[in-house]
Amino acid sequence: MVDLIKIRNYIESLYKEKEETNRKRFQEETELKDFVPVVDDDVARYLKQLVKMLKANKILEIGTSIGYSTVSMASIVKEWGGQITTIEYDEKVGKQAKENFVRAGVSKWVEIILGDAKEIVPSLSQEYDLIFQDVDKRLYPLLLEDCIRLLKTGGVLVAEDTLFPVIDLDPKWHYLIPPIKEFNRLVASDERLESTIIPIGDGVTVAIKK
Ligand SMILES: C[S@@+](CC[C@H](N)C(=O)[O-])C[C@H]1O[C@@H](n2cnc3c(N)ncnc32)[C@H](O)[C@@H]1O
Repeated sequence: MVDLIKIRNYIESLYKEKEETNRKRFQEETELKDFVPVVDDDVARYLKQLVKMLKANKILEIGTSIGYSTVSMASIVKEWGGQITTIEYDEKVGKQAKENFVRAGVSKWVEIILGDAKEIVPSLSQEYDLIFQDVDKRLYPLLLEDCIRLLKTGGVLVAEDTLFPVIDLDPKWHYLIPPIKEFNRLVASDERLESTIIPIGDGVTVAIKK
């Protein structure tokens, strides 16, 4: 029998000393304590690896919060001067994210757009090597077509929380399960994508545009 919690604790025990950007520390150091949760450390590590493997120059992040995943990816792209555009509609949270970018020394490689992703994403026209989807889950299926349009051929869409339908989720989040199910169905059946779901964090979809 596979015990996922035991596996996760074991992995975290291996990495907790080494990690430069660590979620717990990052959250403690930020002034704003009332924010939407950020990615787990295993997801942050995976994003960093992916950015490095792709040598991503242009990254779009949908859903910034206090900027933990942004800082994780920026710590890699700054090696070769890549750029991250990240979208957040909560001004207070966005302000805190900006301060965290300064503190982490990555502001030069990050542009934050304050506004509603539902309007901003369809208005974008630049191509991206990597798109990290981590916004309100109800927007995942609505923004999927734009994400595919904005990806370069060979570019990668990563979407967080896609195992919500099967994990032990707090009932207050259950209303987010139907849009995630719809997103998962659309991604899995899309002929333009080569995709799978990795059981790290709360489930991470990885889809390459063919
Ligand atoms: C899960 S958090 C992002 C966490 C972040 N990626 C990290 O791991 O550090 C989702 C964020 O999306 C923002 N958000 C929700 N709906 C939005 C929308 N329609 N447009 C822009 N941002 C939105 C929320 O305010 C929240 O900060």
